[in-house]
Amino acid sequence: MEYDFDKVYDRRNTNSLKWDFAAESHHAEDELPLWVADMDFRSPKPVVRAVKEAAEQGFFGYTKEKYEDKKIVCGWLERRHGYAYDPGDLVFAPGVVFALTQAVRALTVPGDAVMISEPVYYPFASLVRDNDRTLVRNVLQHDDKGHYFIDFDCFEKQIKDNDVKVYILCSPHNPVGRVWKRDELEKIGDICLSHGVTVFSDEIHADFVYEDNKHIPFASISPEFEMGSLTFTSPSKTFNIAGLQIAEVIAHDEKIRKAVKRAIYSTGYAEIPVTGLAAMKAAYTECDGWVDALVSYIYDNIIFMEKYLSEKCPVLHMTHPEGTYLPWVDCSGLGLDRNALEDLIRNKAKLWLDAGFIFGESGSFFQRFNAACPAATWKEALNRLAAAVNHI
Ligand SMILES: Cc1ncc(COP(=O)(O)O)c(C=O)c1O
Repeated sequence: MEYDFDKVYDRRNTNSLKWDFAAESHHAEDELPLWVADMDFRSPKPVVRAVKEAAEQGFFGYTKEKYEDKKIVCGWLERRHGYAYDPGDLVFAPGVVFALTQAVRALTVPGDAVMISEPVYYPFASLVRDNDRTLVRNVLQHDDKGHYFIDFDCFEKQIKDNDVKVYILCSPHNPVGRVWKRDELEKIGDICLSHGVTVFSDEIHADFVYEDNKHIPFASISPEFEMGSLTFTSPSKTFNIAGLQIAEVIAHDEKIRKAVKRAIYSTGYAEIPVTGLAAMKAAYTECDGWVDALVSYIYDNIIFMEKYLSEKCPVLHMTHPEGTYLPWVDCSGLGLDRNALEDLIRNKAKLWLDAGFIFGESGSFFQRFNAACPAATWKEALNRLAAAVNHI
């Protein structure tokens, strides 16, 4: 077999945040971890080889990217997502959250309003609050099938009422699994631009889209959107290399790009890691086939879960994900309060998931799973869940 996603690895004792820090996080050692967005698949062989080769040289001195390296990032984005960024627009950073934080610092001042659409990846709220900006919580709506959408009247009113300066878009959206359609992105952009709001488009999950959904880079929609936005991306989710600390910010507006670059460098960050650069180059040039196979494998896990829940746990309702590897499950049908739900998941099902409320109040009574694991691990998790749910 060309790629073996079925193989179960023991990741304990590797300093893995996901597997090795249960006690420190007040979780029991026997809870199966399906929380943080970290996959239980080895990175593709070319990435492992590139890191080994970089290590074999035995030189770990200061490292800097060349223009050709930026072209490699742009090559991936163009090939996979159909949008040709200018390599000169690109700035490297150690992580997307780091880059978002510095961009917020660069383009707003304390007290300024930054809007997010909840439920959403929880560091968005904390990075706004921790930098003394005012957090504006737009709440996503959903229909009875769990399909989420933006109430644009409310979205625009909140922007106007709060004099919002920046909107952080999660595209595709973690945790509700939306791959925003062109007309939705256009609406977001039209509203934001007409009110002078800069869009920060976090596109880290862009490679994980299913069925006929297509990720549309926000900046690709029009020259105005490109000028009025920043794109944040990284090979870290797609190739499972978060530990190699490499991410990219793309800003077409020169003034904005310089301000964000200055903010990034003002932290003392200087150069990209030699291993991260090597991994990134191999990932973006040699691994298209691996990514196609990976996405198809994860999709099978997602479909398996949907069927499994509808047959064995119909009280739980899963949002059908258009993208991301993080299924979002409505557990409100169990009629449990927040503590009882946590007790069920952690102590009865013995699962370590991300509780929905951490993504925003509207996520209460949901749980977020991580489907990026071997099928055997996935089945074990679902069996544990069904046994606990059907016991009550
Ligand atoms: C939407 C989103 N942005 C950013 C990140 C993290 O990126 P980084 O580790 O590069 O800060 C994640 C990780 O799950 C994510 O889901």
